[in-house]
This record gives sequence, structure tokens and C-alpha cells, in this order.
Amino acid sequence: MATLRRATVCFTFRNMIVMFLCVSLVCLPFYSSAKRNDRPIIGVLAQEVYSPKPNQTAYIAASYVKFLESAGARVVPVMINQTLEEYKTLFNSINGILYPGGGVSIISSGYERAAKIFYELAIEANNRGDYFPVWGTCLGFEQLTYLTSGKTVLSYTNTSGVPLPLDFTNETKDSRMFKGFPPELMKDLASEPLTENSHKWSLALLTYNTNEELKKFYKVLSTNTDGKTEFVSTVEAYDYPIYGTQWHPEKNAFEWTRPYIPHTPSAIKTTFYMAEFFVNEARKNFHSFESEEGERKALIYNYNPVYTGHQSGFEQIYFF
Ligand SMILES: *[C@@H]1O[C@H](CO)[C@@H](O)[C@H](O)[C@H]1NC(C)=O
Ligand SMILES: *[C@@H]1O[C@H](CO)[C@@H](O)[C@H](O)[C@H]1NC(C)=O
Ligand SMILES: *[C@@H]1O[C@H](CO)[C@@H](O)[C@H](O)[C@H]1NC(C)=O
Ligand SMILES: *[C@@H]1O[C@H](CO)[C@@H](O)[C@H](O)[C@H]1NC(C)=O
Repeated sequence: MATLRRATVCFTFRNMIVMFLCVSLVCLPFYSSAKRNDRPIIGVLAQEVYSPKPNQTAYIAASYVKFLESAGARVVPVMINQTLEEYKTLFNSINGILYPGGGVSIISSGYERAAKIFYELAIEANNRGDYFPVWGTCLGFEQLTYLTSGKTVLSYTNTSGVPLPLDFTNETKDSRMFKGFPPELMKDLASEPLTENSHKWSLALLTYNTNEELKKFYKVLSTNTDGKTEFVSTVEAYDYPIYGTQWHPEKNAFEWTRPYIPHTPSAIKTTFYMAEFFVNEARKNFHSFESEEGERKALIYNYNPVYTGHQSGFEQIYFF
């Protein structure tokens, strides 16, 4: 009797495994290809180098590339000074774009020109249901404030090289960005200095509160202060997959040359959960390159990063 019962249990269990295998083999690939792009490719915008040399006129810090790669995306560099047609073709080939931090002008640079073109293409695409996410970090966030408001709206703050805890707003818990974060990490983000700030310019909370364009476009998820000015440190757009952080999620895991970059286990998790969030956004986009060859030629794998950690704030840089 006991043996029989065990046989029945085993049989049922085996049936379940067989059924599960059938579901995985038949249904899951179909499901995922219909709802999700598991081969996302994200553009990272280049910018002018401060003192150009032959073959080194633009750059991307490698930490932005590693940031996205760590969460399952491949990266394509978005070069500056391309034609509008070239940018449109690239826009229709990639699944999202990241505007990195840096030091160029947000009102007149090759970086600004490309950022504006992709921002406008993203707004247009999202309006017709073509989900295209945009991320701005530090300068990239400042660039977004300019693109959304059409004005320079930044204030000086004493925030060059300080790690800070986030002052979360009451909007955070309903945000898309932080929804998937473990509660423990949210607690650490709110109480430990896990977010590295390297900027002299900030969107003052007062400016945000009095600027209609910014206020209706972005939901503020966190703020910070330098002791004098309270500024906006994390945003997500209400109606678009557009995100910005004044701080640097990519540095914690990948940059080591500055003593104020946090590397605690929670700091590294912060890098990863932010990357995972944005890469998941890109998995909702289905743009693709016209050919495999075109895709191969565009990928950042065609370029070699240079070790610069002995002389710069970046361990490795891609020069173009
Ligand atoms: C610049 O790049 C070109 C093509 O890759 C190469 O032939 C040339 O030697 C490089 N020049 C310098 C100064 O590195
Ligand atoms: C981009 O174009 C500007 C203006 O024509 C030029 O000064 C600059 O050197 C170019 N930069 C790159 C990286 O092509
Ligand atoms: C700027 O902030 C640092 C701490 O991050 C502080 O030591 C310094 O005194 C501040 N400078 C000014 C001018 O407030
Ligand atoms: C959050 O706080 C702001 C200002 O304090 C308030 O206007 C808003 O209604 C609050 N939102 C929620 C979801 O509680």
C-alpha cells in the first residue's frame, strides 16, 4: 500500500515535471518574445574631450558601459556630430539611451545636440506607444532639465565629491524606479551615504516647485541638500519612461580613484538595482538593427577602453 502510494506520488510528480517542461518549451519562449526583448541594446552618448588630441576628440567613461552590461544589456556608443538622419536610424535600432555625466555645455555642445534629438524622438515615439526609455546621470540629468523646461534652471551647490543618503519623498513608494528595490536597500539608501554627488549645479527644489514645465513632467523621488540649498536628486517622468539622477549610480561598483565613492555591499547593490531597473525598461522596446552586421559594427565591443585611473576620475575611458 505504502509502495503504491509512493509510486502514485512519483508518477504525479513526473507528470508535473513533464507538464512544466512543455510549458517552458512551448509557451515561455513565445511569451517572452511577445512581451519582452531579452537582447536589449542601449545607446550611451559620447561627449567632447576637454583637450582633444588626434583620434581622441570624444569619450565615454567605461563605467557607464559596465553599468548597463552588468544588468544584461549591450551598449552602442552614440557619437556626437552625426547627421539627423544617422541619429534617426540609430534611434530605430536601439532600445534606450543613457546620457552620462561629464563637463560639457548643456546648451551648446555636440552632446547637447544629440541629447536633444534623441529626447525629441523618444517623446514622439512614446506618444505613439513605442516605449523608448531615456536615462540622464548628473550632467545627463541637468541636460534633461534643460530639454524639458527649455531654460537653464540650475543653481550652484557645494556638492563636488560627496556621498549622500537620499531624502526620499512620499512619491517614492509608488514610483516605477524603486518599486523592485528590496526594503533593506531602501532603508540603507535613506540612512547611509550611498549616492555619490560630483556636481556644482543642481535643480533647486524651489526652482522645480515654481517651474510649471518641470513640475508637470517629473515626479521627484528624492531630494538632497548641501546645507544651504535643497535640490532634486532623483526623478522619473509621470507619463514617459524618462529618468534622471543627479548622483552617480554607476560609480559605486566600477570607479575607485576617488576616496568618497562608496563601495559597501549596499552601495554595490545600489549600482546593480538601478542598472537592472533601466535595462528592464529597455527590454520593453523592440527596435532592432536592420542587419546583424550593422548591429555588430555599432557595438562598443569594436572599441577598446584605455586605462586612465592613474590620471583621471575614471578607471577606463573609451576614446573616439
Ligand atoms: C588615428 O586613427 C587612425 C585610424 O584608426 C590611425 O591610422 C592613425 O594612426 C591614428 N592616429 C594617431 C595619431 O593615433
Ligand atoms: C564636432 O563639430 C564641432 C563643430 O563643427 C567641431 O568643432 C568638433 O571638433 C567636432 N567634434 C567631434 C568629436 O567630431
Ligand atoms: C562644502 O562642503 C564641504 C563638505 O562636503 C565642507 O567641508 C565645506 O566647508 C563646504 N564649503 C562651503 C563653502 O560651504
Ligand atoms: C506628497 O507630498 C506633497 C507635498 O508635501 C503633496 O502635495 C502630495 O499630495 C503628497 N502625495 C502623496 C501621494 O501623498
